[in-house]
Amino acid sequence: ADLARYGAEAAARAADAIRERLGVRAPACAIVLGSGLGDLAHDIVDARRMPFAEVPGFPTATVAGHAGALIAGTLAGREVVALAGRFHMYEGHPAALAGFPVRVVHALGAPTLFVSNAAGGVRRTFAAGDLMIIADHINLMFRNPLVGPLQPGDVRFPDMSDPYDAGLRAVLRRVAAEQGIRVQEGVYAASVGPTYETPAETRMLERLGADATGMSTVPEVVVARAIGMRVAGVSCITNMACGIATHPLSHEEVLETGRAVSAQFRALVTGFVKALD
Ligand code: 6GU
Repeated sequence: ADLARYGAEAAARAADAIRERLGVRAPACAIVLGSGLGDLAHDIVDARRMPFAEVPGFPTATVAGHAGALIAGTLAGREVVALAGRFHMYEGHPAALAGFPVRVVHALGAPTLFVSNAAGGVRRTFAAGDLMIIADHINLMFRNPLVGPLQPGDVRFPDMSDPYDAGLRAVLRRVAAEQGIRVQEGVYAASVGPTYETPAETRMLERLGADATGMSTVPEVVVARAIGMRVAGVSCITNMACGIATHPLSHEEVLETGRAVSAQFRALVTGFVKALD
């Protein structure tokens, strides 16, 4: 039932409405902006905005720090579409809706997806303010946005051996080196939330091989791989995970750290888009 609402057909309808309203032609890349990372939208030239609430098939975004709009324009001279805000499963949304905006930007013609998020640091050598290239993920949401009838254009059993494209990760490392931006690289584990993890869960995540943890991104990346998009992603380590952090976590801290590393994040994404072929 979820994929009947948030599948390929609904995405094509949403894309038609966006194309008509914003004049999107052939975006080189779609960009998902995570909590506190929305400032990148200011770098988009000739920006046209469409609030999520006005996109056919999108519900209204609710969490503070998520503007909830689709922005079309150019970045580094290349056409892009940015999603400022996302639909989280902790809001009660089905996984298929969390992945739906990715179907829409693909229907708009974007071959590549860049995802970003705010995440807690699990690897003990990380620190708040680090940027982490996502090398791989662990789905601890126990939901999958592809469950349901096979959508036209989807692969039934998607290969996940290279979910975050190795070539695109190399581009990110090169851009970071050129611009003097310090980057980490590691595995992102997603849980449904909305609670942050307990200290015991943080130790579990460490032993599972996670380097960072959050409450998003995995549904989008799963959909992207099923429809054949190449994916790159960056986590902003806004704080260390519970049990490692020396103080209780708060959403305000997450947003604050996001804003503090905003300039580096913007430079990294802009350099990435510029380097796309
Ligand atoms: Cl510490 N945990 C989770 N699950 N999500 C986060 C986070 C931590 N920090 C930002 N997002």
